[in-house]
Amino acid sequence: MPFNTYARALKCRRINMYNDLEKILFTAEDIAEKVKGAADWLDKKYSAAQSMPLAVCVLKGSVFFFCDLVRAMRTPVQLDFMTISSYGNGTVSSGEIKIVTDLAASVDGRDVIIIEDIVDTGRTLAGLKRLLFSRGAKSVACVALADKPSRRETDVNADYRCFTVGDEFIVGYGLDYAQKYRNLPCIGVLKDEIYR
Ligand code: IMP
Ligand code: MG
Repeated sequence: MPFNTYARALKCRRINMYNDLEKILFTAEDIAEKVKGAADWLDKKYSAAQSMPLAVCVLKGSVFFFCDLVRAMRTPVQLDFMTISSYGNGTVSSGEIKIVTDLAASVDGRDVIIIEDIVDTGRTLAGLKRLLFSRGAKSVACVALADKPSRRETDVNADYRCFTVGDEFIVGYGLDYAQKYRNLPCIGVLKDEIYR
């Protein structure tokens, strides 16, 4: 496809995604600023770590957050990836975590940093923490891009959160609805009519 046609097609698709947003909550610039804050917090926390922490990207939602965050850190970290599915194609957590792709590294005796997109009911994070400790992790900390405290059903919380949001469904910067909107560079609230 000629480049101009391709660029036009991409632009149309991007515009369609924006049309599905009720409002933009956080711009790419807002996100970059918060990522820097999270990286500084992690650098401080692990400055005296005896061994390299293992940074776990919880796919797919935290993919961009993870990449930006670890690159903003000065502390050396080992990277690993895990795919967890908890929602199917809906907007409500099914309550159980399903490991689609497991970590390649052992967490035994390691300081583990979970990098999550959003903590909603908290069930995913609770399940993941339980799993990592059962595998012998020395410590587990969680950095979340977003937090929805009003929807919490467990007593777990992220140790560091970049944004706190209300009871609304957000998409963009990795967050999806039915696998769409992940590649929006900003975070916005999805219009009700898209999923009702
Ligand atoms: P929890 O188990 O209810 O805390 O849900 C955690 C997962 O649900 C997150 O990692 C997201 O993948 C997904 N999720 C929760 N709220 C939203 C949202 O507003 N937008 C997109 N995904 C969400
Ligand atoms: Mg997630």
